[in-house]
Amino acid sequence: MQLTQKERMYLQDAKSQEELCIAKYNHYSGVVANQELKQILQWAGQQETHHLQTISDLLQGRTPQMGGQGHSIPVNQIISQTTSGASANRSRSPQGRSPQGQTMQASTSQFTGHGVLTDQQICQDLLTMEKAVSDMYDHAVFESTSQPLRQTLNHIQKDEQDHAFALFKFMEQMGWYQPQ
Ligand SMILES: [Fe+2]
Ligand SMILES: [Fe+2]
Repeated sequence: MQLTQKERMYLQDAKSQEELCIAKYNHYSGVVANQELKQILQWAGQQETHHLQTISDLLQGRTPQMGGQGHSIPVNQIISQTTSGASANRSRSPQGRSPQGQTMQASTSQFTGHGVLTDQQICQDLLTMEKAVSDMYDHAVFESTSQPLRQTLNHIQKDEQDHAFALFKFMEQMGWYQPQ
């Protein structure tokens, strides 16, 4: 696939964004306290790894094969997997308590200002990152001059929106995010 200068610029930007996404998901999945959150982060991290491969293929002039990704789990599946356990737990505990029995207040009061992030702050950071990445892909789609490139970037952008949705649903369930 021949790329225009602008397309190449966006793909290079996307590549470094995906590398950052992988680094964050890998790092955070190793430090979060909540096991359901850990599962969401591992799932998203695997998809980011696939995105990086796709972007690298594009930069090398190869047309990537979207679809056929054996490890790609739909977002509703990951949400139902992670939330089914949590709602069962929540029915035994008061509103706003996590399965580990941490209250939202406890989570915030753990904030020391010395480099230790709470699960809630990690979710906020990742949600902000996903928004920025999705915005970037939105611009990249509009600058794409060929249908295969457009479809590939569209597909990746939808994945990013799914990551944000999974994070949002988790935060909502924990009482950390109330839509206005
Ligand atoms: Fe990604
Ligand atoms: Fe993502």
